[in-house]
Amino acid sequence: MEEKTVYEVIGGEPVVAALCDHFYELMASTPQFSELRAMHPDDLQGSRDKLYMFLSGWFGGPDLFVEKFGHPRLRARHMPFAIGVKERDQWVACMYMAMDRVGIDETLRQKLLQNFFNTADFMRNREG
Ligand code: HEM
Repeated sequence: MEEKTVYEVIGGEPVVAALCDHFYELMASTPQFSELRAMHPDDLQGSRDKLYMFLSGWFGGPDLFVEKFGHPRLRARHMPFAIGVKERDQWVACMYMAMDRVGIDETLRQKLLQNFFNTADFMRNREG
């Protein structure tokens, strides 16, 4: 029996798209995420589309980001932004809420939270 990808389990393209919509809506509307919001461009559409393309591949679906932009080099791409514990925790908390909004099963949500945390922590490029 073939193991299903996370992409398939959560519901594929529409759910990954909804996840990214919620992520940036929550970022823009939740005071707790104001510093994270301020690091992003005024118009969040481009950020949303890049995250969508990235997560599609990251979850085991079509590798849209790599097809368009090449190797993600996520740490290098985040170097222009000062990312410490506060920014990391805001990003992860925002994603945790977004996963709730799209109704990802709680067990899987905890597992993905851990993966997101590890990736976000790897992006830290300053103390504090
Ligand atoms: C650790 C906290 C994080 C902060 C503060 C942060 C912040 C940002 C900012 C400000 C941008 C630029 C947006 C734009 O140019 O429109 C960006 C881009 C991006 N972020 Fe993050 N991010 C974080 C973590 C993550 C994580 C964990 C992922 C993936 C799981 C991720 C995926 C991306 C992607 C794919 C892009 C687009 C890269 C590009 O092509 O320029 N980020 N991030």
